[in-house]
Order: sequence, then C-alpha cells, then structure tokens
Amino acid sequence: MTTATGNGRITKHISSSVLYRQLRQPNPSIVSSKGCFLFADDGRQIIDASSGAAVSCIGHNDERLHYAILEQLKKVEYCYPYYFTTPVAEELSQVLTDSTGGKMSKVFIVSSGTEAVEAAIKMAMQYFTELPQPQRQRTRFIARKQSYHGNTLGSLSTGFHPPRRELYEAMLSKNVSHVSACYAYRGKTETDSDETYVGRLAQELEDEFQRVGPETVCAFVAETVCGTTLGSAPPVEGYFKAMKEVCERHGALLILDEVLSGMGRTGTLHAWQQEGIVPDLQTVAKGLGAGYASIGALLVHNDVVRVLAQGTGAFIHSQTYQSHPLACAAALEVQKILKEDDLLSNVRKQGALLGKLLVERLGNHPNVGDIRGRGLLWGIEFVKNKATKEPFPSSNKVSPKIHSLGLSTDHGICFLAAHATMDDKTGDYIALAPPYIVSEQEVHLMVDRTEKVLRAFFGY
Ligand SMILES: Cc1ncc(COP(=O)(O)O)c(C=O)c1O
Repeated sequence: MTTATGNGRITKHISSSVLYRQLRQPNPSIVSSKGCFLFADDGRQIIDASSGAAVSCIGHNDERLHYAILEQLKKVEYCYPYYFTTPVAEELSQVLTDSTGGKMSKVFIVSSGTEAVEAAIKMAMQYFTELPQPQRQRTRFIARKQSYHGNTLGSLSTGFHPPRRELYEAMLSKNVSHVSACYAYRGKTETDSDETYVGRLAQELEDEFQRVGPETVCAFVAETVCGTTLGSAPPVEGYFKAMKEVCERHGALLILDEVLSGMGRTGTLHAWQQEGIVPDLQTVAKGLGAGYASIGALLVHNDVVRVLAQGTGAFIHSQTYQSHPLACAAALEVQKILKEDDLLSNVRKQGALLGKLLVERLGNHPNVGDIRGRGLLWGIEFVKNKATKEPFPSSNKVSPKIHSLGLSTDHGICFLAAHATMDDKTGDYIALAPPYIVSEQEVHLMVDRTEKVLRAFFGY
C-alpha cells in the first residue's frame, strides 16, 4: 500500500509486523528447505550458495537433527546455567576442547557470534587483572580494518565497517584501534614476497603497540580467514605466526574470531590449524549449530584458564541462555555428522572445485578484480577498472544489487554480499559459502548461476 504523508513524501507500507532490514521492502518468505535448497512461498527454488550467512553447513532439514533436538527436549529444555550444568553441555564442551588437541581447555557457550566476541573481549581484560602481578592498565585492543566482529557496542567497536559504525560512533569504545588487514589483492605489491608483505604488516602492528603503549594492550583481534567485509580473504603464508610474535613480545593475547571461518568452513575444523599457531582465545558460532540452533562459543586456552583458576576462579560475565540444552544438543549432533559423513574431506574437495571453476569462468571478467578463498569459502571482489583496481563508487551499491538479482526468479541463487568496507566506504564483494554437503553437480550449478547473474548484471 502506498500513501502520501503530510510532508508530501510517498511512503510504502508493508502489512507485515516484522521489522525487515529494509522497512519498505519485504524479504522473500521461505516455507521449506532441503539440503542446499530453499523454497519460497512464490514457488522460487533458491540454491543456497551462501549457507545463509555461512551457517547451514550440514544443509537444510537434516532429519538427524530433528531427532537429536527432540530427544533433548524430552529430557530438559532449560535450566539456569549459573546454577546447573547438563550432560549435553558437558559433552559438547568436551568434543570442542578435544578437537583442539587439548590446547583449549574450557568452553563458554552462548547464543551467537556477537556474544562470543563480547565474552572474548571481557575474558581478555579480566585475564590481566588475575595475573599474580595484575596489569590493570591493559584496557586496549588492536583489531583490523575491513573486519566484522558483531553488532553489539563492544563487538562493533572491535570491528571496522564504516556504514555499520558511523551512526553509533559516539558510543563506540575509544579503546580499540585498527591496523591493516592481511589483504594481498590490494596490500601486497608486485615486488613483494609473502615474507616482505608480512614483515610490513608485522611492523605496522608493532608500531601500533608502540603508539598506544604496549603495556596497555589486552589483545590483537583478527578473523583467521576474513568473512564478508573482506570477501573471504585468506591470510598469506606466515602472517599469523608474525602477528603472534608481536603479541608475545608485548605480553598481549591473540584473539581469533572464527565465528564465520571456523567449525570446518575452511577445510579444517579450526581455521588456525592451517596457520601453525594457537590463539589464546577463539570464538566460533555459525557452523557450530549449523542453523539448527542459535549457538556460539568462546574457547579458552589452557594458559588463560590456569591464570583464572589460580586467581578469582570466576569469569565475571554470564547470560541467561548460556549452554542452552537444545542448542547444545543440535551442535553436538552437527559435530557427530561432520565426523560420520567425513564432511571436512568434502569441504576440501568441493572447495577446490568451486575455486577452480570460479577462476576459469569469471577470472577474466573485466569487473572481477579478484577471486580468493579457502575451503568452501570463496569471495569475488568487483572493480570498476581491472587494471587500476579502482572500486565502484559506494553509491552504485554493486554487491547488494547483484545479491538481489541472484534471488530473482530468473536466477535462484543466494550469495553473501558486502559493500562499503574500506576507509572511503567503497568495496564490493560477494561470497559463496555452500553447505559442506554440497555435491559436485551442485557446485557446477552454483557456478553456472553465478556466471549468469554477473553477466546479466554487468551486461557482458
Ligand atoms: C567474523 C564474525 N564475527 C562475529 C560475527 C557476529 O556473529 P552473529 O551475527 O552470530 O552475532 C560475525 C557474523 O557475521 C562474523 O562473521
């Protein structure tokens, strides 16, 4: 319905009570799902090339999850985690700590990625107050540009995404500063080797420690493999080893945000397992519950746990829905399925195929600047000028428009889209992050549809 308001503006009303992302534009309504497909009420069949927001890793509507959640529901649906534990929370936590080879020894289970990041920040700060010689002056964090760590004030302060921060800037923490991300497409020059590029980034981090005072920094925070704000950019060889060295030199912690890149997405259960380092604190979420439940977690390294255990013995942070039994049951079943169906092998196999096909079919497209990724997380960066890497103006909204076109009846594909992530608010990316169950045939279908969408959008 469209009406004219008193000031003459035309307002389009939507009858739904749901506060959509765009108030004047309803979202498609999904009424059923199976495997890699979503089905809308208007008959559209959409291939879920993004697993939602890189969430639905075991695919949609797996009956094993129906059973696991129902069985837990029959036992205990909720009990206050401040007072009680449950066998299912114990088992899930044990599975997670075991999966790190015992490096991480405690798990704090929450309901989202944002909450896991908030917990990590607080845990880092508390850690320094619990040391035998407390370091209460450590209140700062260094994070990276073009990063996303969540949308609450703490996590939004940590991330760097100008359009999401701008409105709230006055309320964001002044205790976070941002250094360059590891972004080889734009940061690594033609004369650089990985080593020289990493050396420069390590020096930048070192300089930032010196600028703010090394004794004031709690932690360096980074996504192990970048999510949407940097179009799935993986770190170059040696990057995290060099960053960890800088942190260790100054006694600061390393927090790796694996909310998106963890739990198998990049080919190993934990993305840091490909980097030759272990973080002090690690966040996971999306693939943990695979969308069957709202769940995230903070994994805490032995050394941090030891300090807390010998200190006050308590983490000064809690939430009502921590360790929710139904969410734990879902996540535990997802972990069993990953193993039983050997899904990480499929992530590596189909991921390699997906990357190869995208490069073959789109690598030469004049508006495709870069195609990059790892495992089943692949990003495409769009540019106005391939030779100069000039991005499209933010006002063109290239990636949101590509995303909408993908969802249309003609195309039927869902991408993850991000735009306006650089200092000057430019930058357009889409990511493909299919479910780990994706078949070779479905990878081909996703690439066919991606190519068709991009050629329709750019006109060639
Ligand atoms: C790297 C990263 N951290 C944190 C978050 C926030 O997670 P959530 O949306 O579950 O709160 C996201 C979400 O996209 C993410 O990609």
